[in-house]
Amino acid sequence: MTTTLDSLIARIGELPPIPMVTQKAMDVMRDPDSNMAELANILSMDEAMTSLVLRWVNSAYYGLRYPVSTVQQAVTFLGQRTLHSLILAASVASLLDRAAPGYALERGELWRHSIGVAAGARLIAAKFGQRTAEEAYHAGLLCDIGKLAFEVLLRDIDTSSEEWQEGDFKEMEIAHFGIDHATLGAEMARRWRLPNILVDAIAHHHNPSEAEEGALLASAVHVADAAAMSLGIGIGIDGLQYVVDETACQRVGWDESMFSDLSARIIPFVDEADKYIRARRK
Ligand SMILES: [Fe+2]
Repeated sequence: MTTTLDSLIARIGELPPIPMVTQKAMDVMRDPDSNMAELANILSMDEAMTSLVLRWVNSAYYGLRYPVSTVQQAVTFLGQRTLHSLILAASVASLLDRAAPGYALERGELWRHSIGVAAGARLIAAKFGQRTAEEAYHAGLLCDIGKLAFEVLLRDIDTSSEEWQEGDFKEMEIAHFGIDHATLGAEMARRWRLPNILVDAIAHHHNPSEAEEGALLASAVHVADAAAMSLGIGIGIDGLQYVVDETACQRVGWDESMFSDLSARIIPFVDEADKYIRARRK
């Protein structure tokens, strides 16, 4: 596997680096003594990010009774951990706002999909406590980052061909590159020094039954990924082939009756993310 990974990375050139603002957000999140001033500092790096975070806070997803207009209020109502996650999501916007033609993803779709999966995974994992819920959000946000790296290689391949359309996309990635985008994404996460539990969840978001320490997160992301596909949020070429793992559904206590509530909360959240990304391109 190491040989495959090394030779693959050599073919890609460089793996996408972590954005500086994301690195800063992660540093603050890891620091148990971090405070509001540091959070405000990160937000001040990008004014548009502050408005996105506040719009998200006020969206139906969080169902707050009164509108919130400051970061301080957001912390009071949602807790610092949740606010961290929102800031982290906003900080990877530019990284994820790329087209991935090999996956039939137009510009903005990978961002929308990642936000949708993150928001869904957080709701699904909420019953396991706030820490797990936020970790599920992070894993969902980053589960497809490997596509950004694979995209470079896929440009030379006609993925609209019968071979790619009819085969299992994950199997096709493995056949052509030796590994799939989940494994490559996990390697990116490892190099970004993310916790092992997240690396494991990213690696197994398409086969959560094979995950170890990240099994719960991988299951929440897997189910949220399928739900986002059903809602048409950034489907891409591989979404049409999605097979839901029953064991993952059982592990997170998911059943179909929860789908309408999940979609009602995810859609406005993703819509805000969509408006934001369009506005920041101008
Ligand atoms: Fe994926």
